[in-house]
Amino acid sequence: MKRRLIWWLSLLTLALVATTSLAWSAMSHVEQVTVLMPAPFAESTSALVEQFNRDHRGRIHLDVTSGPRDTEAMSDLAISSLLLGDPPYDALLIDVTWLPKYAAAGWLEPLDSYFGPDEEATLIKGARQGNRYDSRLYRWPFNADVGLLYWRTDLMDAPPQTPAELLAISQKLIDAKVVNTGFVWQGRQYEGLSCDALEIIRGFGGRWIETDGTPALSSDAVNRAVTWMAELIRSGVSPRAVTNYAETESLQAFKAGDAALMRNWPYAWAELQKDDSAVRGQIGITTMVAEPGESPVSTLGSWGLSILQGSDHPQATVQAIRYLTDASAQKQRFLIQGYTPTAEALYADPELLAVAPHLPQLAQALELATPRPPTPLYAQISDVLQRQLSGVLTGDQSSVDGLERAQTTTSTILQSAGGD
Ligand code: GLC
Repeated sequence: MKRRLIWWLSLLTLALVATTSLAWSAMSHVEQVTVLMPAPFAESTSALVEQFNRDHRGRIHLDVTSGPRDTEAMSDLAISSLLLGDPPYDALLIDVTWLPKYAAAGWLEPLDSYFGPDEEATLIKGARQGNRYDSRLYRWPFNADVGLLYWRTDLMDAPPQTPAELLAISQKLIDAKVVNTGFVWQGRQYEGLSCDALEIIRGFGGRWIETDGTPALSSDAVNRAVTWMAELIRSGVSPRAVTNYAETESLQAFKAGDAALMRNWPYAWAELQKDDSAVRGQIGITTMVAEPGESPVSTLGSWGLSILQGSDHPQATVQAIRYLTDASAQKQRFLIQGYTPTAEALYADPELLAVAPHLPQLAQALELATPRPPTPLYAQISDVLQRQLSGVLTGDQSSVDGLERAQTTTSTILQSAGGD
């Protein structure tokens, strides 16, 4: 009896050891892929990540680390771990403006051997831009993004097309006490201000940086653009608080029905159609105003996935990137969070068109998408512009003085790096 018990116990132990080591060896073959994303994107991706992990059980395990919301804070976090060497991530979700710097520093793995020209050709124009540096592909787009002017269809027959019209329409609605404020936008000293300023500067016929790489901030046209931005606040067409507004604050004001017009990115549409929105079903989109004779432009935004140089799992990371960016993932993200699709074909997708009649206008805005200066020194020159513009908007300095300072400092930054 005792012998039999010992025999059974030994058998059980053997079985346990075998199962554990089998499980262990299976686990050790699981490739662990870690991706760092800004918080809103990490949240919007969590269901897909769970699905990916179910579909790849025993082979790949994907982990998305959630970073800060703002682009500057995210980049600071990414850079600090890149500088320390051996970062804990295989891939990063990167903003379009980071790419030249990251690629020039040798932090990114070229993706040309994974994504061919045929695949790139399926992307809508705005999503095809900003993924290459020195003609190599370093980023696969996750969303398309472009600056938009949102307008209230219940308050005006057509959106303003010129800066003067924007002032006049807003003033009229404020005087008639129909809205508290006219136009909300991103006036805080951060990257969003550079995005708005680029659209306005171009709408007045100015340039931030000329195509030959020289700064052009002290031109008449840029001065008129920045004077107009300050006038928005001085006249009360934009609230004083706009100098503290990022995307979220502008969206809150517009969603509450406080403003007639808003500059924001496409994701705002989905938020404005929710049940708790005071302006649901009363929104149109167009592009930023431009002076008569000038063409409107929309600042190119967008985030994309890049593999870090030295990742131990590039193939598995590519599989994850494909999964997170395929057509069904794009549809899901658009329908739920309003993130703009990257595949051109989706702009004619009946299922999407049925719930998002503004898709054709989005496609149009993406045609006008204009990148911010594609230099590795972008973060520095944008910081200079934001700082000087903020001084003008808060009334601390004149537009001419601010722009003169911005021009000189930008030249110094670009020249000290050997020109760009
Ligand atoms: C959006 C854009 C990004 C831009 C940022 C500024 O996320 O996609 O390109 O830098 O807004 O706040």
